[in-house]
Amino acid sequence: MAVTPWGPDFGRLARQDPELAGIILSELDRVAGGLQLIAAENFTSPAVLAALASPLANKYAEGYPGARHHGGCEVVDIAERTAQDRAKALFGAGHANVQPHSGSSAVLAAYAALLRPGDTVLAMALPHGGHLTHGSPANFSGRWFHFIGYGVDPATGLIDYEQLRGLARAHRPKAIVCGSISYPRHPDYAAFRAVADEVGAYLIADAAHPIGLVAGKAAPSPVPYADVVCATTHKVLRGPRGGMLLCGAELAERVDRAVFPFTQGGAQMHTVAAKAVAFGEAAAPAFTAYARRVVANARVLADGLAAEGLAVVTGGTDTHMITADTSPLGLDGRTAKARCAAAGIVLDTVALASATEPGGRVRGLRLGTAAITTQGMGPPEMERIAALVGTVVRDEGVVREKVAELAGRFPPYPDEGRIVQPSEGVGRL
Ligand SMILES: Cc1ncc(COP(=O)(O)O)c(C=O)c1O
Repeated sequence: MAVTPWGPDFGRLARQDPELAGIILSELDRVAGGLQLIAAENFTSPAVLAALASPLANKYAEGYPGARHHGGCEVVDIAERTAQDRAKALFGAGHANVQPHSGSSAVLAAYAALLRPGDTVLAMALPHGGHLTHGSPANFSGRWFHFIGYGVDPATGLIDYEQLRGLARAHRPKAIVCGSISYPRHPDYAAFRAVADEVGAYLIADAAHPIGLVAGKAAPSPVPYADVVCATTHKVLRGPRGGMLLCGAELAERVDRAVFPFTQGGAQMHTVAAKAVAFGEAAAPAFTAYARRVVANARVLADGLAAEGLAVVTGGTDTHMITADTSPLGLDGRTAKARCAAAGIVLDTVALASATEPGGRVRGLRLGTAAITTQGMGPPEMERIAALVGTVVRDEGVVREKVAELAGRFPPYPDEGRIVQPSEGVGRL
């Protein structure tokens, strides 16, 4: 029978629906054949994938453990309590809500718990690294709240705390959001708390990116400072796709009601169980070592990219994430990303608040080391990747085979070779 990294049932899929099985295996080929440098992605463990593929996917469980709207929840209640308890212990939080379907759902619920439509909110401006949920006009946040944007100092790339304080005093927001899709340094949570206290605002930490490093003790925790912490579970944290909220006991009921019934229906219990598995993994010493390696790798990669001529924003990184301007090499971020993609190097572009174009019109590259560190790569591979990126971006040669050779030495799921026998008739795309 076919064996997959995510459980024993792939052979059934392969026999019943070879077309779909082939599509899934093609995606596995894609990720295994290139370098996955998307800062928001990772490779979950086979145990997390097994929980995701479990029959808990079938269970309807509106409500919370002990207070459900459906019958038959006695087992999934235990799964959810386990996830809550593990999250509380991992992050030292008084309360954890593990039901948000995504990071955006978690942010929506945080706003729903603390704000009313029309309230003023201070968050990082999108051209400086804010997320869509931090006031984009294309998102519920920008439509339903009055967002004011703070930013980074275009010269240093660092958060301008004086500007933050000035805007808070001028606009008296109901909440301040601390979090970004591209900030490579640790936010000063104490400074954010001080500004929030000065103007009587709630502090919401959107820790979607750093929360995995927090779990691995490789980054400071926002939990002691923020009224509510929003997070994703699928980035450095290496769990299933999903969201999470952490807060103190005093806000627990408001946060829970903001998730269900206000913004969501039934929780996805297979995902809740998979979150519990990921929290269990993140509590082990091996994850602490992993988180430190993620940061150490990112620092080596940042130094290497700088040596290749890219302008690394803030001069380096404290996290899993690097943002870099390719303009010194004479090309824009979009072109650089396309060249990398053609070589099998998968990464993103982000808006950069550069000194010359402070409006965020410059797009740079964003790279992350969470996935490649899970694959077992270390500093020598980071130096190699920086050199490959430099060669590709400068258009100095074809490196596709070198990328495939490097990636091939670090398979994301080392058992992959045993997956599906050709006799099972599963074709790749
Ligand atoms: C800061 C921040 N907030 C929220 C989100 C939203 O997460 P999701 O894509 O799961 O909705 C992200 C995703 O990258 C993020 O970086």
